[in-house]
Amino acid sequence: MMNKKVHELLNRQINKEFYSAYLYLDFSNFFKAKGLDGFANWYLIQAQEERDHAMLFCQYLQNESQPVTLEAISKPDKVFETGMDVLKAGLEHEEYVTSLINDIYFAAGEVKDYRTMQFLDWFIREQGEEETNANGLISKMELFGSDPRGLYMLDQELGARIYSPPSLVL
Ligand code: FEO
Repeated sequence: MMNKKVHELLNRQINKEFYSAYLYLDFSNFFKAKGLDGFANWYLIQAQEERDHAMLFCQYLQNESQPVTLEAISKPDKVFETGMDVLKAGLEHEEYVTSLINDIYFAAGEVKDYRTMQFLDWFIREQGEEETNANGLISKMELFGSDPRGLYMLDQELGARIYSPPSLVL
């Protein structure tokens, strides 16, 4: 039987991941409206990955014969002036998600739920990658974003990103 708190946190994470997908879709739309299709592509793929994360939490609970309760997804309501504002909000959001994953890991550890901890290992690595990517984008934007040709090249680079399904299979 899964611990009640661990179950609640895992179930809540489904909503957090779907919200992340919604937020990144909003970011993608921001860049699309500015004509930066590469940035828009990058965040659209990011949104797809977040949906995958939500589905993994959902599937894990189902594999453990635990109920899944879907809650309302909040509206992404931040208004951004610049592309850099969006990138920084992305990093801040990933740091927040890392803290959520860490909280679940801690709760699972307290009740010796080793299976959940093992499931979360993939997400802990993934959050490391997400934060590295978000930091990398900010650095590149700082270096090249103010030069139109640099921004064009960066947009081209981000436009080449291709979606691939998560490496974690349950
Ligand atoms: Fe699913 Fe970007 O955290």
